[in-house]
Amino acid sequence: MDAHVVVLGSANLDVTLTVAHVPAAGETVLTPTAPLRAAGGKGLNQAIAAARTGGAQVTLVGAVGDDGDGRFLADRLSAAGVHPMLRLDRTRATGLALVLLEPGGENRIVVASGANLALDDITPAEAREVGVADVLLMPAETPVAGLVEAARAARANGTLVVLNAAPVPARVADLVPFVDVLVVNESEALAVLTLLAPDEAVGDLGAPPHEDAVAERLTGWFGTVVVTLGGRGVLWARPGEATHRVAAFDVPVVDTTGAGDTFCGALAAALATGVDAAAAIGRGVAASALAVQRPGASSAVPTRAEVDALLATRR
Ligand code: RIB
Repeated sequence: MDAHVVVLGSANLDVTLTVAHVPAAGETVLTPTAPLRAAGGKGLNQAIAAARTGGAQVTLVGAVGDDGDGRFLADRLSAAGVHPMLRLDRTRATGLALVLLEPGGENRIVVASGANLALDDITPAEAREVGVADVLLMPAETPVAGLVEAARAARANGTLVVLNAAPVPARVADLVPFVDVLVVNESEALAVLTLLAPDEAVGDLGAPPHEDAVAERLTGWFGTVVVTLGGRGVLWARPGEATHRVAAFDVPVVDTTGAGDTFCGALAAALATGVDAAAAIGRGVAASALAVQRPGASSAVPTRAEVDALLATRR
């Protein structure tokens, strides 16, 4: 039977505006570049990344409004080979993300959550879907109450739970009992640690806190901690081991939007197919190195063959 990944997370219409610089307070910035409208949202991006880069069946548990944007997102998921298990929220519009993209590929994003807010619980059918998965992958753009219910259903059925704490939920402590793998960037790692251990978070970890020390400390709560470091690659840690590092590929960066999502999706698909943590993280690094060379988020996700080809250059 095929490996099975369930992603629980947001689906947004991304509207990307390319700007020379992001506006300062009170400033208006004009851009001659046409807006790019594309399927996005951390949940949708991660589901598409898992489907395209891995050998797993993928379901996205999400929610959209009863509108054209929602139908567009469902179509994009199906076209990418993802089973869209989407609730229809008749009271809110489909999520919308405004992405400001600067030269060099850095971005600033504002999300109007809309229908994503409907995911504050889990239906019996969604719990069953989670329970038969090999891996449950959860970014954190949807309400934490729903994440906790899904993670509990996963844990009860032996499904591996991967939490991408982006953005960091204020109630991240509620998820700790159910999470096997935590994926965060540097600032999120420190934010999670501060929420879990406010008194000891920064005190003895250096100034600024040393990234290895932060990752190691987080293994007190999570079995595997993966910290993405952008152009510096990835740092990961397990309890009782020295930290490990995977170097980034040296590639030209066009757009970093969704690069972390591509990493998470590729990682989850690899874990679901039985690949060990080190190799799964390596696949994530290669997949995101390909994604940053293209515009957009889900539209930038590479294929499995492209990831294999890039990894072969390292052997
Ligand atoms: O991680 C990138 C994503 O964040 C975008 O696609 C946008 O929708 C926001 O959710």
